[in-house]
Amino acid sequence: MTATWDFTPDGDGRARLRNELRTRGFALVHPRASGLSAKEAAREPWQAASLVFGEMPELVERQPIAPVPHGRSFASSARETPLHTDSQLWRGTPPMAQLMFCERSADEGGDTLLVDGWALLEAIERSDAALHAALFEQARRMPFVFGDVTGCPVSLRGGALVITHSPQPCRDAVGERLGPLLAAAPRIRVRIAPGELLVVDNHRMLHGRTAFAGDRRFTRLLAWLAAPLGEHEALARRAARAAERHLGLPAAEREKLGLGAPADPAAAERRRAVLEMLRGEPPGVLAQRYRVDEAELYAWRDRALAAMDKALA
Ligand SMILES: [Fe+2]
Repeated sequence: MTATWDFTPDGDGRARLRNELRTRGFALVHPRASGLSAKEAAREPWQAASLVFGEMPELVERQPIAPVPHGRSFASSARETPLHTDSQLWRGTPPMAQLMFCERSADEGGDTLLVDGWALLEAIERSDAALHAALFEQARRMPFVFGDVTGCPVSLRGGALVITHSPQPCRDAVGERLGPLLAAAPRIRVRIAPGELLVVDNHRMLHGRTAFAGDRRFTRLLAWLAAPLGEHEALARRAARAAERHLGLPAAEREKLGLGAPADPAAAERRRAVLEMLRGEPPGVLAQRYRVDEAELYAWRDRALAAMDKALA
């Protein structure tokens, strides 16, 4: 079982948190500040994620994790959840961080299981070089509830090394060979108590959950941050070599694979301002923060919404 520690969202607390994420891919903490309970994270997800990391994420997604009658997804049921990554994509890249705020733990079971994907890849390189190469080079369709993800299970996405693994079995040659190795990989078992927060490097770690009985409740936040939480130079180099083969693909295809051009920094800053405005931040505050006239701010919002209308028509 993993020991927890008191997390205060200040310079020291965040440095320790980021260090744990960098070195072992996850951190289990007891937040000692308002805004970081499961209920508060559900109410103000952007605020909670920015408190944890000390930066406003590019995007935040919130999901209650609790069993509901006849729930069919893993998030809404009490079933065992096989190991996987949270691979909802934005600009072709999954969220860097998964934050699990515990409101209630299960009466029985419901432990979180983690597998270090980097350690797994290092082990596979030693035991099965052909499978290791296939994981970087063989694009496949990986089924998820929110839609299929296409690409290599280990790839560069948004400039970061990313592992993609579906909880649903992939019955192709790679899946058949990977399955037993993943089943035998060392698992970290984490029992999260009410009030605690598990932060996971979602580009690196696979996670799952044992079946449970009782009313287990979490608020899960997925956060896209400015930079990945960890770095594995050798694996990233390997993924970069594989990505070179996709240079000739059309831009839209490259975007889907997470290999699109990075967002223009000025446009990204305007996008952040518009998102904050849509989340209810007062325009006067934003005009100061982004050093623009309010009129300009309104123009950005209207152009962004007009582009949205056009895209969705
Ligand atoms: Fe998940």
